[in-house]
Amino acid sequence: MSHAPGTRRSHSRMPLVAAARGESPARRPVWFMRQAGRSLPEYRAIRAEIGMLESCFDPDLVCEITLQPVRRHDVDAAILFSDIVVPLKAAGVDLDIVAGTGPVIAAPIRSTADVESLPRLDPAAVGAVARAVTKILVQLDEATALIGFAGAPFTLASYLIEGGPSRNYVHTKALMRDDPDTWHALMARLADITITFLQVQLDAGVDAVQVFDSWAGALSEADYRTFVAPHVDRVFAELAEYGVPRIHFGVGTGELLAAMAEPADVIGVDWRVPLEEAVHRVGPGKAVQGNLDPTVLFAGPAVVEREIRRVLDDGRRAVAAGAIGHIVNLGHGVLPDTDPDVLTRAVELIHTL
Ligand code: CP3
Repeated sequence: MSHAPGTRRSHSRMPLVAAARGESPARRPVWFMRQAGRSLPEYRAIRAEIGMLESCFDPDLVCEITLQPVRRHDVDAAILFSDIVVPLKAAGVDLDIVAGTGPVIAAPIRSTADVESLPRLDPAAVGAVARAVTKILVQLDEATALIGFAGAPFTLASYLIEGGPSRNYVHTKALMRDDPDTWHALMARLADITITFLQVQLDAGVDAVQVFDSWAGALSEADYRTFVAPHVDRVFAELAEYGVPRIHFGVGTGELLAAMAEPADVIGVDWRVPLEEAVHRVGPGKAVQGNLDPTVLFAGPAVVEREIRRVLDDGRRAVAAGAIGHIVNLGHGVLPDTDPDVLTRAVELIHTL
């Protein structure tokens, strides 16, 4: 199919969009967080030649890597190949993605002055991402949704403040509690960056967006509602006018599901909370996404099938309990050593059961 830049594709034939809107999808939609990446040999071959961040700013490579898992697995969505730190890099923050570690920030943000000098994101600086979206949409089947994404302000803040991955978020929580004004100023700046990055993707035509607040589960519900939710709610509100499904996801967020679902259309659930229980926590009217444990894919085929059946049954109970739809996914990303053939068979099974 062909796609003119700036026009939205027809959503009527996309199972993922139908499930998110409470319509009847032609088949049960499934995709996998981190499906584009290290589990695929064809991805590793590309990345042997080029750095992670460099590849994120090359529209031809972004297009190719985004489409690789769609060709292989027949999933119902492609997720844009990028990273949550790409907009920070584009804005001018000195950072790198270190293999096996994750994002590393050269000069961590700790003071009011650091926050004031955090650069803003010029949409033109992520023009390569918009061009990649245009290229992908030309090639993507009309039933397959392209999901754009961004990191949520808290998860971005945790990298900027800690300087890299963290276990306890000590510096992040210290800033949050010791200096709420500086904290909220930082969160507001990061929300602006997140909004701009998602608007660029939406203007280029992505069919849905997912906001990753991967590490928000480190917070109590009270702290989440005080220090994070106002900024995330603004991100979601700014995207409402596009009328596309907005997915909100975090890990270990069982206690935060109600707060996280409020601004979103679809709530991502990790493997710790059954989907039906998630609906009891969230209330009716939202779609649920999830929630196979990514490590299940390392078990034998009988266990994989049993767990898939369990998640599909749980999804049906979630809908009976008031969810408007179920998008099948893992509870977190595909682990690097996952056998890609297991993913392909899982998709087949989900589509036939
Ligand atoms: O397939 C997809 O989901 C699309 C691509 C994608 C990447 N990062 C590519 C990537 C997505 C959606 C992300 C989001 C992301 N990045 C998140 C939120 C999702 C989550 O897992 O909770 C987070 C927290 C990051 C930050 C980040 N970047 C981490 C923790 C890592 C892994 C570090 C490691 O090597 O273990 C990265 C690097 C990264 N992002 C890789 C990929 C394919 C690996 C880079 C490589 O190939 O060396």
